[in-house]
Amino acid sequence: MLQNFEDANVAHTAGPHFAGDAAVRAIAPADFDAAVQEITRWDGYEPTPLIGLAGLADALTVASVDNKHEGPRFGLGSFKALGGAYAALWVLQREIEARTGRQVALASVTDPEFATLVSSLTLTTATDGNHGRSVAWGARRLGARCRIYIHADVSEGRAEAMRDLGADVIRVAGDYDHSVAVVREESEANGWFVVSDTSWPGYSETPRDVMAGYGVMAREIVEALERPPTHVFLQGGVGALAGSVVAAFRQSWGAESPRAIVVEPELARCLFASAQAGRATAAPVTEESLMAGLSCGEPSALAWEILAEEVSDFLTIPERLVAPAMRLMAEPMAGDPAIEAGESGIAGLAGFICAAVRDDLRQACGLERDSRVLLIGSEGVTDRAVYERVLGEGG
Ligand SMILES: Cc1ncc(COP(=O)(O)O)c(C=O)c1O
Repeated sequence: MLQNFEDANVAHTAGPHFAGDAAVRAIAPADFDAAVQEITRWDGYEPTPLIGLAGLADALTVASVDNKHEGPRFGLGSFKALGGAYAALWVLQREIEARTGRQVALASVTDPEFATLVSSLTLTTATDGNHGRSVAWGARRLGARCRIYIHADVSEGRAEAMRDLGADVIRVAGDYDHSVAVVREESEANGWFVVSDTSWPGYSETPRDVMAGYGVMAREIVEALERPPTHVFLQGGVGALAGSVVAAFRQSWGAESPRAIVVEPELARCLFASAQAGRATAAPVTEESLMAGLSCGEPSALAWEILAEEVSDFLTIPERLVAPAMRLMAEPMAGDPAIEAGESGIAGLAGFICAAVRDDLRQACGLERDSRVLLIGSEGVTDRAVYERVLGEGG
């Protein structure tokens, strides 16, 4: 089963490792605290499971592997439930304050006195599925309107899930980066409010809220583990997930923080390219990855600030590892529980396996017998048809 990973074409580059304080500057500890306080009081909140995979750890000669399984998160199928819905709340809070000239607590956004105002506001975003679902869910909870922009390759199942949450879903030609450009333009022209998970120069407040929301996941991990892991493998799209997690870990664990390794599809390697260039760099996507959530050509400027300082290694993995990695979760090593892991949620796992089974990468990533590895299984089944199809592909 592991043979697929032994001869895979994996690229490695070391992080630029700039020295600085981005882990506390880019997202303040108070931002993470506020997100935890708010999100943990939402209906249906429950920490997602942190699942030990002792069989996999044995097979890969490390001390332990823990997988944070985000499939059950708020019934939305991925960790993204935490970010967009939380940032949507802040967007509405700021607009209510701007229009009423009063100070309004986050918890008051749903007060009946603001219901008419909120129902006249439109939240928008571009998405390849999971972030849009979170924004649509947040808009519905709060009573705002919602328009979600998807690109040509987003599955119809994912579009339908967002329509079911009451959003208008607009399909545009081109790729994810193009849909980001369209939503910016149309929102500006129409007075709509963009709730983006990626930041660009002059737009970082909402992406920071998104990343603060993801901090709930990191907080649960910190509380669940007796001691910090030595390594964390994180999938990278625009980098917000990885940036949030490594910042939160640094704030909690300081010098004991795990070595952070970012894994991207070789078809969408903007963070890898940024590491090589030593600055945020686009790597336009010419062919969509199966790992749809990771198929991004431009890094988030805010996330990159953190990653440039905190990430020690960047890996890219080929498409042909997606099915085997998903299957390894669905039909696990003896003694490990089966996990339904979505195609965008297994890049970290696939990168870890490659790093563990190949001497050169094992050495480059500092993996040892006593390493304690953390994986973020960022997605469960978000489109059953896609899940079954990909699981059935390749060997
Ligand atoms: C399941 C899943 N994992 C990871 C990511 C990557 O997150 P980011 O774009 O913040 O790097 C995404 C992004 O959509 C995702 O949907």
